[in-house]
Amino acid sequence: MKEKILELLKNSGNDFLSGQKISEALGVSRAAIWKHINRIKEDGYKIEAISRKGYRIISSPDILTFEEIRNHLNTESIGKNIIYCDSVDSTNLKAKELAEVGQEHGTVVISEEQTTGRGRLGRNFISPKHKGIWMSIILRPDIITENISQITLIGAAAVQSAIMKMGVKTSIKWPNDIVLNSKKVCGILTEMSGEINHINYLIMGIGVNVNLDEEDIPLDLKEKATSIKLENGKSMDRKILLANILNIFEKLYIEFVQNDNIKETIDICRKNSILIGKDIQVINRGKVTTAKAIDISDKGELVIENNKGTIEHVVSGEVSIRGIYGYSE
Ligand code: BTN
Repeated sequence: MKEKILELLKNSGNDFLSGQKISEALGVSRAAIWKHINRIKEDGYKIEAISRKGYRIISSPDILTFEEIRNHLNTESIGKNIIYCDSVDSTNLKAKELAEVGQEHGTVVISEEQTTGRGRLGRNFISPKHKGIWMSIILRPDIITENISQITLIGAAAVQSAIMKMGVKTSIKWPNDIVLNSKKVCGILTEMSGEINHINYLIMGIGVNVNLDEEDIPLDLKEKATSIKLENGKSMDRKILLANILNIFEKLYIEFVQNDNIKETIDICRKNSILIGKDIQVINRGKVTTAKAIDISDKGELVIENNKGTIEHVVSGEVSIRGIYGYSE
């Protein structure tokens, strides 16, 4: 009921909405409305109440609930169900638990903070409260397991394009990081449950350092990690950024799973690649070799020239890549 009242208030914008109208629309008493309005205020909304006029929202809190992003969202399934948490251990873990018991495709688990956010290679991922976008998307694609690595590229392309839409140019460090001024602002962790030839579900965990301040970044990460706010000098609207990511992600995802078309994703990854043309280190099961990144193939592999001058195609998930200069993992 609280959500429904909030939706009505949001839809009426700056205009007052009378208790009578809310009561008629939702079939609840004026006293019940009053109670729900108080709960909405406790969530951080400032609501003006004037007798004989009704209620209107003066300001909304900076939170990533469905109610707060619905007006910016134009997806069919991705983000249509948002499981919003104030704090969790890891949204990937929570999404996994839910996916195991049948949570539908497109559900997004999002939390204002993670107490033990998970990164790749067993690392921690810092996720301070209200400062970033920490979310996991539950996906149930009908594709062969071989093609999973391309889904991570779709995530990276969506985040890069969404940040770009807000006026900030970032680069993609193939396959799963977004980099700004040679430091990481976003990491993606895609996890899978399935058998050799069948995907049960995928969890795409995306962590974007949006409005972190200096003190939010641990000393040992300062060389490698930053936030959009720190680099750009001003805060970015997390709600619009989140909706942009989900909108773009769905478009690229549908093109891939329904039409087998990954072209736009690859174009975005190529055009904004921080690796192409650079000397890199390829780490395969602990073994480090140097190479030059040449291109990203039409299938999304990193094309490299190894130290013997041979061209190789590297599939994401098999190796870890380090830039030799500037940003490294
Ligand atoms: C990496 O860069 O190593 C991947 C980081 C992925 C972080 C995101 S934040 C939301 C989701 N929940 C997690 O525990 N991890 C991912």
